[in-house]
Amino acid sequence: MALAGLFLISFLLLHLAINLLLLKNDGGAAYMIAVKFMTTNPIIKVMEIFLFGGFFIHILIGITIQIYNWMARPRRYKIEGYSHTSFFSKYMIHTGAIIILFLVIHFINFYFKKLGWVAPPEGVEREDFYQMALMLFSSKFYAILYMVLMVFLGFHLHHAFQSAFQTLGLNHSKYTPFIKGLGTLYSIVVPLGFAIIPLVILLSK
Ligand code: HEM
Repeated sequence: MALAGLFLISFLLLHLAINLLLLKNDGGAAYMIAVKFMTTNPIIKVMEIFLFGGFFIHILIGITIQIYNWMARPRRYKIEGYSHTSFFSKYMIHTGAIIILFLVIHFINFYFKKLGWVAPPEGVEREDFYQMALMLFSSKFYAILYMVLMVFLGFHLHHAFQSAFQTLGLNHSKYTPFIKGLGTLYSIVVPLGFAIIPLVILLSK
């Protein structure tokens, strides 16, 4: 689960870097070059299989662990807050479920259009993600929905980052505070980066 999670964490960084090109004032030229590379490069195609496999394994093990946890303690603590777990770690299954919901919406908005499972907006090509993103985030509803959902992504990543290192046994009195700090930075910067895209597009309309 930790390895799949770390793979997803790296994917998000790449995905964000490419998406930020949407904000470049060049009519989508740089963004479309990056998308073309990502959709045609054979190495990326293989990585895509790992990506979806990683998601599947991560979700499956996450749900299994949660069910074991519920079975181990079917009755909740009488005194709330008795457990020493952090706020973010307590809600991993809930924030994870919200991310799955986000991905379903996200795939309907983009990926399924490329696959031809969902019709793209009128006059827009199946792979023209630039126009799709501009049209999607011109809608106040979708722009705000994406921004709100990024808050939950941040909550999930905040615990996930340091937890993955702990699971892999990479715990060290010297390095752990650094890893925790890096995790906090990542869980703020990455969701914020994703949230800025709909915000800028909406405001520039
Ligand atoms: C402003 C925010 C975002 C935009 C504009 C955006 C845009 C896109 C686009 C255009 C694609 C289709 C790429 C393709 O099929 O090659 C895509 C795919 C995908 N996105 Fe996003 N994305 C955003 C945020 C996110 C976030 C936060 C996550 C994860 C939590 C995510 C996960 C994915 C995944 C897993 C895919 C499928 C990857 C693939 O196989 O290509 N995206 N996104």
